[in-house]
Amino acid sequence: MNIATPVTIYRKDYVAPGFWVDTVEMGFDLHPQRTHVATRITMRRNHDSAEKDLVLFGEDIKLLQLRMNGVNLKKSAYSLNKERLVISNAPDQVTLEIETAIAADKNTTMSGLYVSNGNFFTQCEAEGFRKITYFPDRPDVMASYTVMLRGDKKLYPVLLSNGNLIEQGDLDDGRHYAKWEDPFKKPSYLFALVAGKLVCQEEKYKLKSGRQVLLQVWVEEGNLDKTQHAMDSLKNSIRWDEERFGLELDLDRFMIVATSDFNMGAMENKGLNIFNTKYVLANSRVATDTDYAGIESVVGHEYFHNWTGNRVTCRDWFQLSLKEGLTVFRDQEFSGDLVGNETGRAVKRIEDVRVLRQLQFPEDAGPMAHPVRPDSFVEINNFYTVTVYEKGSEVVRMYYTLLGHEGFRKGMDLYFQRHDGHAVTCDDFRTAMADANGRDLKQFERWYSQAGTPHVKAHASYDANAKTYTLNLSQSCPKTAGQAKKLPFHIPVAVGLIDAEGNDIPLQLQGESAIATTKILELKEAQQSFVFINIDREVTPSILRNFSAPVILEYDYSDEQLAHLLAHDSDPFCRWEAGQRLAMRRSLNLVSAVQKGEALSLDDLFIQALRKTLNDQHLDPAFRELVLTLPSEVMIAEEMAIADPHSIHTARQFVRTTLAQHLKADLLQAYQDNLTPGKYSPDAQSAGKRALKNCALAYLVEWPDAATYALAHTQYQEAENMTDRIAALSAMLHCSSALDKAHSKTRKQVLAHFYKEFESEALVIDKWFTLQATAPTTDVEQVRALMQHKAFSMSNPNRARSLIFAFCNANPARFHAADGSGYALWSECVIALNKLNPQVAARLSRSMDRWTKYPKANQALMKAALQKVAATKKLSKDVLEVVTKALAA
Ligand code: TRP
Ligand code: ZN
Repeated sequence: MNIATPVTIYRKDYVAPGFWVDTVEMGFDLHPQRTHVATRITMRRNHDSAEKDLVLFGEDIKLLQLRMNGVNLKKSAYSLNKERLVISNAPDQVTLEIETAIAADKNTTMSGLYVSNGNFFTQCEAEGFRKITYFPDRPDVMASYTVMLRGDKKLYPVLLSNGNLIEQGDLDDGRHYAKWEDPFKKPSYLFALVAGKLVCQEEKYKLKSGRQVLLQVWVEEGNLDKTQHAMDSLKNSIRWDEERFGLELDLDRFMIVATSDFNMGAMENKGLNIFNTKYVLANSRVATDTDYAGIESVVGHEYFHNWTGNRVTCRDWFQLSLKEGLTVFRDQEFSGDLVGNETGRAVKRIEDVRVLRQLQFPEDAGPMAHPVRPDSFVEINNFYTVTVYEKGSEVVRMYYTLLGHEGFRKGMDLYFQRHDGHAVTCDDFRTAMADANGRDLKQFERWYSQAGTPHVKAHASYDANAKTYTLNLSQSCPKTAGQAKKLPFHIPVAVGLIDAEGNDIPLQLQGESAIATTKILELKEAQQSFVFINIDREVTPSILRNFSAPVILEYDYSDEQLAHLLAHDSDPFCRWEAGQRLAMRRSLNLVSAVQKGEALSLDDLFIQALRKTLNDQHLDPAFRELVLTLPSEVMIAEEMAIADPHSIHTARQFVRTTLAQHLKADLLQAYQDNLTPGKYSPDAQSAGKRALKNCALAYLVEWPDAATYALAHTQYQEAENMTDRIAALSAMLHCSSALDKAHSKTRKQVLAHFYKEFESEALVIDKWFTLQATAPTTDVEQVRALMQHKAFSMSNPNRARSLIFAFCNANPARFHAADGSGYALWSECVIALNKLNPQVAARLSRSMDRWTKYPKANQALMKAALQKVAATKKLSKDVLEVVTKALAA
């Protein structure tokens, strides 16, 4: 087999750039087939660098002209290959004039300059600027940009770039121009331009300082009825960053532009954020509560990057989590603060932890495991991962937990004081946090350098005579690729102790005077004991409150203790977690019973515990919904040595149908109690009610009679918002009874109706594909049939994700079909996508990460599919890196 060897880049090899750039002037003549770009760059030698050559990167562009200090450079004066242009012996002061040509209409990668629906967009992070011109395209080179855009006025009435619009006017031949100047120095990955037929919702907004700024949300014609929520989210973001961190918007104009062709969620280009339509467009007819929440957090995320990422940026791409982990932490806090109450905050926290466990824990345990600050990569685009983002955010949250609200703010202030306008490292951030608080955070560095999810084992003993309660904590971390031995982490473990009445008891540690009901224990050694004094009764420990560290906690709770915590814990996270532990224990036992062909049953303790939660009117509906949601099939699989998707599915569905059977009256009551009549509002309270109501509905159809199924059907027909409509449709398609053909005609009808009703709404049609891709009735053949549907397209990332990714990642029982047909589909799609869009193809490649976890027969088929992809000609380094690492597992 002929598998190419990828070139690896190492963090230890970092060398400062040989030349700094002061100014960049660019002129674009926009034509889809051939955009002409003229760039003038002033540069000066960095005498501190070991790099003596002048190194420019360039990819997939045509070099038309190259002048240095006014003189045309002859071919012999520089070297040029597919990736770089190198000028040796350049003088210390250099002005380069470069002309390049780009075929944006042929660019299907959505990186660099590309055309979508007739409009021009750019995506430069991480290394897309080099597809526009030759440039030292690395984040530590920060420069001032002036950009002149010229294009046909009819085709491209709107011409946007970073910063301020300083001039515009008409040209000959129906063309016009706009000149933009960005007042702040920035790395090239933050460059952006947008040109085309777009319309905007705009608003003047007054900052706390009194300065007025112009806010715009740009969309395609016909979508102006879906921009209000994004605009509201932007204003909330601006206010929140002023209030919580004292950070003001530094520009006079801030723009958001939506495009339906986008590789990820959104991009924080200075003053000109570009978004996937999924994270901009919303109204109650087409968007769900989840969509509304997603928009709020992504708009916040990109806006917050203006300080954490743009004003202070990354020295090199290994430091990516410096901006991403911190900005995710900031957007999580933003969403939590906006809800405005403690339970709402806790619900948000639990949702975030769920994402971490569902996606990041498997990554940390698989062949792509890497530290929050990776040591090497082949393709940087493969490292925009849940580890860098979500685990990175947990690492930032641990500073917050260790240093407290004020201490964290002091650290942030010092970080900006020291590093504003600079490109820095994760160590600089850690040092600012330490210095601002007079703390030693040396050991904390291991959170950046060691991959894998740490395990914390807890042991407790109570001495009634001495009135001491001793908690023994030990830690370990499984080995990961290239890291066999791990050193102990600095882990904040938040602990409470709960008495038999369910009350928190005041805690005092031996040798300390402070008393509190939650104590942050700092575990720094492999093993440590913590002694609480004056404990005069039996207690149940509530450990890892608010999920104070991204670890797996092992403690041998009894079912009764878990039920007690679920009923009483004052910490909402641990309260929820107790329910999850009860459910996981049962799920695992049931999987093994399914495998052995034994009779299945569910115990009363569990059923009653859930009943009690479901009916507890003191608890927020949103919280009750989280408790009622069982650990996913993916999470169950992660707990097993050999994961068997079919048995897992059967076991989990058994729990659902059994609960539905026993809790029928309670579920019906919850359904009725949580209706939200009147005008739709996406606020957390209403969304929580809908979530619980729709969770109840999904259970009810698991053990259906004619009435409950009709309830779903009626809700579908009468729904006045997308949340309720899609929930009803999902309940009908995803319940166990869908498998025995009952109501199959009704299901076909509603699916057809839904398609017709929303045919012109691309984001809704994505939902239509996903619903089917994830239905238990949908097999590989049906996915192939859907791929033939006129609305399906492999080249639109959202659409490809809605069907292919959804099937491969979220329908495990069908994807892992015994005949390997799911894997064959996967390899065909990866190979097809590889030609169009390597970034998206590499993401799909990740569906095979855990192949060594499946039964032997599956493993063989999965390995063969991986090998087939690895041996494909012209494989991108994106895909090559992922499959090579998977095969090495
Ligand atoms: N920096 C962006 C964010 O976190 C994400 C991003 C990185 C991105 N590379 C991209 C978006 C490529 C689109 C395409 O918000
Ligand atoms: Zn980001």
